[in-house]
Amino acid sequence: MNRVAIKTYGCQMNLRDSEAVAALLRMRGYSIVEDESEADIVLLNTCSVRDQAEQKALGKAGYLVARKKRNPKFLVGIIGCMAQNRGSELLDQLPDLDLIVGTQKFHRVPEHLDAIIQSMNGLGPLGASVVDLEDEAGSQDTIRDHIPEAHPVSEFVSIMQGCNMHCSFCIVPKTRGKERSRPIESIVDEVVRLVENGVREVTLLGQIVTSYGKDILRPLDGKSPFVQLLEAIHRIPELERIRFTSPHPRGFKQDLIDAFGYLPKLGSYVHLPLQSGSDRILREMKRPYSVASYMDIVRGLKAAVPDLSISTDIIVGYPGETDEDFRQTEDAFTDVGFDMAYIFKYSPRSGTPSAEIADTVPEEVKEARNQILLDHLHRQSLDRNLAYVGTTQPVLVEGRAKRGENIFMGRNPSFRKVLFPATPDLMGKIVPVAITSATVTVIKGHVSCSHTLDCWPSKIHRS
Ligand code: 5AD
Repeated sequence: MNRVAIKTYGCQMNLRDSEAVAALLRMRGYSIVEDESEADIVLLNTCSVRDQAEQKALGKAGYLVARKKRNPKFLVGIIGCMAQNRGSELLDQLPDLDLIVGTQKFHRVPEHLDAIIQSMNGLGPLGASVVDLEDEAGSQDTIRDHIPEAHPVSEFVSIMQGCNMHCSFCIVPKTRGKERSRPIESIVDEVVRLVENGVREVTLLGQIVTSYGKDILRPLDGKSPFVQLLEAIHRIPELERIRFTSPHPRGFKQDLIDAFGYLPKLGSYVHLPLQSGSDRILREMKRPYSVASYMDIVRGLKAAVPDLSISTDIIVGYPGETDEDFRQTEDAFTDVGFDMAYIFKYSPRSGTPSAEIADTVPEEVKEARNQILLDHLHRQSLDRNLAYVGTTQPVLVEGRAKRGENIFMGRNPSFRKVLFPATPDLMGKIVPVAITSATVTVIKGHVSCSHTLDCWPSKIHRS
């Protein structure tokens, strides 16, 4: 009666939250299973950022709840962003749901399940669905300190929760609440512990990481709390790489741009959400930057890190987006030469300011614009990957590739996926890989030293 399957929708923060819930459940005597058909309890950790994501999870929940007819002891819960966004309204559609838990209450999941199971066994008062959605002070500190079961090379670390911005299209301030940051020491402790367990790369997570610490710290020597945090983590020996997501262009002041120059563990990759290449649309979206100021950031970062690889988020078909607005987005997209991008068709989210205005761009126009950007992306990624052929890349070996015997997967400092034959002893090490071929999504090669010890010692290299 205690096998739990957790299915995660959406972003890396959701994956991280699911891992934390899984760790707490394990501590409480539950076992975590991959296959939901073997589970007694299925939890859907959900996403609200676009309607499609909610519909997918709702469809799945409906399908799962039907299983209760055959097995009344089977439990289904919706947790995370859609739970927060829709709350007990979910019960109108799915009255048999057992559990609805919001984004500040993940750590309460085990006790709620315990209570539901006890009441099912005639030991408690319950009998109705459990809905837990309140804000909880300090909940950002509960998503922490989980030691992974296996020992991965790369791990996510939650540094803050929430977002205080007011982007007109975005549901996140509603689903994740106000900005709340964890103290630097607590984050550093967590990373130290991960490194002791073999982790060599961390990805710092938050809805707006560049605003990290504004609620608890002051700038010091002209450095924002986020840069102070990066410096503190950078000092941890044996940690090789630091990534972060998702930032806001507004957070890229000179201190952070400079940090890319003197903190080599940041590597040569950054995610920088542009959303639109039209100043008019950016203003409508309440994004507080212009295309010109975005380009200034890009120039600054490229000066600090010549081999910089930049990824972005774009929304096509925002209400009122004209052909000319889109042409400007296309220009910006090719000017920067993004080699990774998440391109979204605008989806009105009830409760956001832009949902109040008409969704004017027809679906087929959104689709066409989406496809045009995907075509640019395809070409830009391939060009970038082909340029690696003939070079030797310092690759952090993460583990076995999904396919191919003795083929391993790692990433170079630009976050490109690299495939190469190797042996498990190289996991967690940075090895030189001579690149011999490339596709749009991966580069391939072979380790170019005969013995691990000949490989670059674990020092940071830029290609
Ligand atoms: N419609 C389409 N895309 C959206 N995003 C956020 N809200 C919406 C929406 N209503 C995209 C943005 C954001 C990414 C996480 O999701 O590009 O950066």
